[in-house]
Amino acid sequence: IKRITTETLRKMKVDGEKISMLTAYDYTMSLLADKANLDAILVGDSAANVMAGHETTLPITLDQMIYHAQCVVRGAKRSLVVVDLPFGTYQSDPQKALESAVRIMKESGAHAIKLEGGKEIEESIRRIVNAGIPVMGHLGLTPQSIYQFGSYKVRAKEDAEANKLLEDAKLLEELGCFSVVMEKIPAELAKKVTEAVSIPTIGIGAGNGCDGQVLVIHDMLGLNNEFKPKFVRKYLNLEDQMVQAIEQYVEDVKSSDFPNINEQY
Ligand code: KIV
Ligand code: NA
Repeated sequence: IKRITTETLRKMKVDGEKISMLTAYDYTMSLLADKANLDAILVGDSAANVMAGHETTLPITLDQMIYHAQCVVRGAKRSLVVVDLPFGTYQSDPQKALESAVRIMKESGAHAIKLEGGKEIEESIRRIVNAGIPVMGHLGLTPQSIYQFGSYKVRAKEDAEANKLLEDAKLLEELGCFSVVMEKIPAELAKKVTEAVSIPTIGIGAGNGCDGQVLVIHDMLGLNNEFKPKFVRKYLNLEDQMVQAIEQYVEDVKSSDFPNINEQY
């Protein structure tokens, strides 16, 4: 099997082939996504939400991200594996940012890292790229800044923020990032950015004008009925199916239907 690389993604943009990306946090999900020919897997810090039950992405640690990344890497034979640098491990100083990125690469075997922000973290990005580590940017609704935003509403609807986002995307390209995620921004702006930069843009809630799409795998599998923003397309309703299956198991155990004669030694 031929591994997808950051170069493959660049080439896909040139060829006009859309890039498919989903999150995964564990071996089994990674294995299944890889089997389905997904181009890239994001070990997102959304693991803080969907794996650990935290309300925001802020609490997850570098050690925890490395653990998730190790699990995902074992399952991915073909997909490019990108890992989020968690909150607090790259914003303060570039040296620390480099050390955090190096730990992820060394200890997990992942292929790239992702971090949130533009101009503010320019020096951190420069250091990491200079060390030979592929970097994916992330602009728009960057969840690590949720307490500054105050809500999960669409970002960059006003000109000032939209212009800054466009400038940040160009800066990320200049700094040598191989790609950029744009989260929850107007489709028109995402399309404009996509046309303005040569690196592939990956959208989530950013419309169809991006070079690729990413979703949290639990969202698209329908594992959480409570969460239904309009940018999520649910391909399954796994929550209902899983709860029904477990209810059935409980019933079968209670009624002594399980295990039957063929299910014992
Ligand atoms: O952590 C995450 O899941 C992400 C994507 C939604 C872009 O950063
Ligand atoms: Na993230």
